[in-house]
Amino acid sequence: MKSKIATIKEEINNYSFDSAENLEAFRIKFLGSKGITKELFSELKNVPNEQKREVGQDLNDLRNFAEDKYNHFKSQIATQKSDDNKIDLSKPGEDFEIGSHHPLSLVKKEIISIFSKIGYVVSEGPEIEDDWHNFTALNFPPEHPARDMQDTFFIEKGEKEIALRTHTSSVQVRVMENTQPPIRTISPGRVYRNEAISARAHCFFHQVEGLYIAKGVSFADLKQTLLFFAREMFGEKAEIRLRPSYFPFTEPSAEVDVSCTLCNSKGCNVCKYTGWLEILGCGMVDPNVLDSCGIDSQTYSGFAFGMGVERIAQLKYRVTDLRLYSENDIRFLKQFKTGI
Ligand code: DAH
Repeated sequence: MKSKIATIKEEINNYSFDSAENLEAFRIKFLGSKGITKELFSELKNVPNEQKREVGQDLNDLRNFAEDKYNHFKSQIATQKSDDNKIDLSKPGEDFEIGSHHPLSLVKKEIISIFSKIGYVVSEGPEIEDDWHNFTALNFPPEHPARDMQDTFFIEKGEKEIALRTHTSSVQVRVMENTQPPIRTISPGRVYRNEAISARAHCFFHQVEGLYIAKGVSFADLKQTLLFFAREMFGEKAEIRLRPSYFPFTEPSAEVDVSCTLCNSKGCNVCKYTGWLEILGCGMVDPNVLDSCGIDSQTYSGFAFGMGVERIAQLKYRVTDLRLYSENDIRFLKQFKTGI
């Protein structure tokens, strides 16, 4: 019996552990309910009485030896497993999706940065406006069709009319009321009109208004400023042309076209084979408007212009359906990633 125990001890000592399965096989073989140590203990009754004590002691040692070995490797395998779960700091990082600026934000930022190069500062006004700032101070006669329910979203009718602003020209009134010339400002913002939504019209869109008031400002200054803008925005070969137009708040007024950069003015379906694309309205600020806003029209003159951000974005990115700008379709938006 003693030599049997010694052989088994040797076997346990030489047992090599390399996996959880292997460890379990060890437990079953040596420590299980039908395992070797159990079997030896059951043989103890056959050992002569005078040896029982000693053999019993050897058997206890053998079991403890097997148990120690088992527990030792069990904890080793457990730490190995938890090592596997540790973060590998040398691994390359996981990619995560970076958002992109909205195309209208990109264009707005570009317009602001172009005008800031020639000294224009940004000013903003409220989207909910009163009649004075949106219409009356801008020289709109009381019966002017733009005041019609058709175009304007009214919030309050009656003595003091409140509406969603229909253009950012309202901000020039606010600036002139609060500042004396020289004034050189651009006002980006959202405007609202009561129009049916389609590819070419929307009930809200974005404009940038420009205003320059000082002594001796002329129409030539306006033209040169807009030419500078067109070339910065559409490339140095861009040309502009001014067509006479009418706005209540400017006199004289003009609409400005830029040469079609898509076809080099040869004519294409975007410029409707004219070689020109309309981009903004402008004019010399009507003296009535200056006076209404507290600026002496005898001393000062100035020009104003207003452009649609969607329109400029359409020409820059060839987006022909206005609805795309507000639908938040990720397939559309992610095309502007490079512009970040
Ligand atoms: N407010 C005009 C519009 O909404 C655009 C405009 C035209 C603004 C001429 C101006 C301007 O400042 O001088 O259509």
